[in-house]
Amino acid sequence: MLALPLPAEDISYRILPFQLHKNIGLTLLIIIVVMVAMRLITNREQAAQIKTKREKLALIDYWAIYVLIGTACLTGYLSSSYSGWETVFWWLVDFPAWAEESDELNILFSDLHKWSCWALLLVAALHISAALYHGFRNDDQIKKMFDPK
Ligand code: HEM
Repeated sequence: MLALPLPAEDISYRILPFQLHKNIGLTLLIIIVVMVAMRLITNREQAAQIKTKREKLALIDYWAIYVLIGTACLTGYLSSSYSGWETVFWWLVDFPAWAEESDELNILFSDLHKWSCWALLLVAALHISAALYHGFRNDDQIKKMFDPK
């Protein structure tokens, strides 16, 4: 996406992947906010039952994934705002630009965006490894993933 040529009069194919990327990211952010709110409202008792080290690690992993997705989305949005390019949510709603164009802040948030994505990839890899571990052990954790009650 980043390697595509900058939009000019006769070349504009960089715009679509960027808009799609931003739309999918912002949609994800909205879904995450709703999921976290639901979890906070409904799962208070479950959090109080967490005792073993493994359960604590699983909780940290759970929150790390949400925090990192949120950070990736927010830093992406801020970087985009400071770059001066507009964000039109699914080509329907004009998202407000955060502030005036600023190269320095664009670079700062772009770097934070990139590093939060790498961190997210790392936590996702750990999460998948843990799921495989439980799958091979054939314990009841995988069943719980699909039926948490
Ligand atoms: C979880 C959601 C997201 C993921 C995983 C993600 C991932 C990425 C990755 C891997 C890059 C390339 C970074 C690089 O190599 O420098 C990138 C670039 C970019 N992303 Fe995202 N992104 C997400 C959400 C968003 C959102 C919500 C926006 C804006 C509304 C956005 C705007 C941008 C922009 C403008 C770039 C271009 C380079 C930059 O300025 O960082 N991203 N994104």
